[in-house]
Amino acid sequence: MNILFVASECAPFVKTGGLADVIGSIPKALEALGHTVKVLLPAYPAFKQWIKHGEVELELEDLFGGSARVHSVRAKGLNLLLLEAEHLYDRGGSIYLDEEGCDWEDNPIRFGALSLLGAKIGLDGVGGWKPQIVSAHDWQAGLVPVYLRQSGRKAPPVVMTIHNIAFQGLFDGEIRETLGLTEGLYNPDGFEFWGHVGYLKGGIALSDKITTVSPTYATELLTPEYGMGLEGLLRSRQADLVGILNGIDLDTWNPETDPALVKPYSPRSLNRRVANREFLENHFGIEPNEEAPMFCVISRLTTQKGLDLLLESIPTIVKRGARLIVLGSGDRDMEDRYLAMARRFPGSVGVQIGYDEDLSHKMQGGSDAILMPSRFEPCGLSQLFGLRYGTIPVVARTGGLADTVIDANAAALISKCATGIQFTPVTVEALDRAIHRTCDLFKDTKSWKTMMRRAMAQEVGWNSSAELYANLFESLIKKKATRTD
Ligand code: ADP
Ligand code: GLC
Repeated sequence: MNILFVASECAPFVKTGGLADVIGSIPKALEALGHTVKVLLPAYPAFKQWIKHGEVELELEDLFGGSARVHSVRAKGLNLLLLEAEHLYDRGGSIYLDEEGCDWEDNPIRFGALSLLGAKIGLDGVGGWKPQIVSAHDWQAGLVPVYLRQSGRKAPPVVMTIHNIAFQGLFDGEIRETLGLTEGLYNPDGFEFWGHVGYLKGGIALSDKITTVSPTYATELLTPEYGMGLEGLLRSRQADLVGILNGIDLDTWNPETDPALVKPYSPRSLNRRVANREFLENHFGIEPNEEAPMFCVISRLTTQKGLDLLLESIPTIVKRGARLIVLGSGDRDMEDRYLAMARRFPGSVGVQIGYDEDLSHKMQGGSDAILMPSRFEPCGLSQLFGLRYGTIPVVARTGGLADTVIDANAAALISKCATGIQFTPVTVEALDRAIHRTCDLFKDTKSWKTMMRRAMAQEVGWNSSAELYANLFESLIKKKATRTD
């Protein structure tokens, strides 16, 4: 099968969150199953060095105000199609935000252009290669199904994947003229959403199937609490909505070979983790304490992640003699409040504001537990890294967290299947109780180590999920081939 992915970020090249991890890893798993995958991405500055080694496959004189080219490059085990358009993607700041931290004003055009090219390559192919299926990710690729539909041509089936419905790409209705979107689809059954152009909305309405990144999130999305205004549309398309759990790249995230770790380790040499923990104690200025766990957080600092609640639970952590180290960035106010906690509890709480891939690996390799008190979590990858590294996930029971962590309740402990701690509802009180439970479990060193080994043995790679995607894609290709319209 020839598969075209369209997305706005991809690890290890450009990453703001889990979307990049997924786009950087699932193509490899699909290739291992014998398929050919190409990933269309904007050629941000990070791709400049790679473009030099690629070939120009497509040239456009005018893509919304400037020329553009598509380069085909093989990099880090991936087939990339890089959309180079200086006026849209060649700039400083982050990929979505300007130097002041505001969304780039022309984001609707930047990602409209990405979607347009996704549809064009879907219809005509590139460099002699033609996709049989198009896989579009999040609102940035939401207009791919829209452009495919408005072409009126025989198009390959398109699957829209929702990684986070909180980000919908809603823009002023006038943008449709600039983007050349047809009036015929500007209605509630198409890409119109309460007088706006809805990128994700259009993608959901006009794709052949919709996937999201965990089975529990797929059911949560149908409710007003989690659907964020799109629950009605999703309910009407419920038969076409599937939840497929994310996997992680088992080569990049391997505690036995990870070059970022001070000391790599295996389930048989867990004592080697001590060196990683000592590194973290030095780095964050934390006092050692063998009796209580070291918790970590590696996250965007936002209310989605429930990290405002954790601020209130820090005194509980400290009272138990446990420690907390935090790596993250996001809401300015929350960043300040975390820094204030580090000042209030020196030796117990350490905070680093910013993004640091290398440190995130070290934290997974040296902490005892990873905290994720998310209010909603479509899948979550940090708990999967945690399982793989024996860093016990302490998570809210929602979305992918509910699907990937087995709570250490009495029954699970007796039947020896627990891999972490879950709590619900997402409140400070429940989080406090989860922290107490974790500290209690930690005291029983032998069973804690057994739980670590069990966590490390969990299947967190792409094997079974890649097969589910491949089966879904294949069934759509077959269905479309037998249809007469
Ligand atoms: P989301 O995509 O909602 O942010 P995920 O758990 O799916 O949440 O993925 C987050 C990804 O970003 C993980 O790979 C995590 O390690 C990484 N990450 C988040 N914050 C940081 C940070 N400050 N430094 C390094 N990596 C981070
Ligand atoms: C989103 C979600 C996160 C998920 C990631 C990758 O960023 O917030 O839960 O793991 O996408 O699918």
